[in-house]
Amino acid sequence: MKIAIGSDHGGFELKEFLKNNYQDIDWFDIGTYSSESCDYPVIADKMADVINSGQADMGVLICGTGVGISIAANRHKGIRAALLYNNEVAALAREHNNANVAVFGARVQTKKDVLQYFDTFLATPFSNGERHCRRIELLG
Ligand code: RB5
Repeated sequence: MKIAIGSDHGGFELKEFLKNNYQDIDWFDIGTYSSESCDYPVIADKMADVINSGQADMGVLICGTGVGISIAANRHKGIRAALLYNNEVAALAREHNNANVAVFGARVQTKKDVLQYFDTFLATPFSNGERHCRRIELLG
C-alpha cells in the first residue's frame, strides 16, 4: 500500500517524524520539503490529485491545527479526510466513513498520541455496512 504524506510548514517536522517511524510504509512525500512558510491548500490539492489518480491508496496531511488542511482536502470529490483527535475517532473514521486521509495538527497534538491514532487508523478496515456505503455514496 502506497501512502502519500504532505504538510505545510507547521507540520513539516511531524511529517518527517512519521516517515522515520514507519519505514516499512511505501511513502509518497508530496511536500512541503522544509520549514519555510507555505500554503496548506496547495498541499491539500496535491493530495487530492495523487489519491484520485491512483498514485497513492491513502494519505496523511498535517498542518498546525489540522483544521485548514482538512477543510481544503475535503473540498475535493473522492477525498474523505478525518482529523484524528482520539483513538475512537481514528477507528470510526475508517469503520464508518472509510476515511482515506488521516489528518493531524502538529501544534496541538503530541507525537505519542499521533502514533497511537495512526496505528489505529491503519489497522481498522471499513465496515462495508449498507448504511455506511449509502452515506458515503451520498457525499457524491
Ligand atoms: C500556519 O501558520 C497555520 O495557520 C496552519 O498550519 C494551520 O494550522 C491552519 O489551519
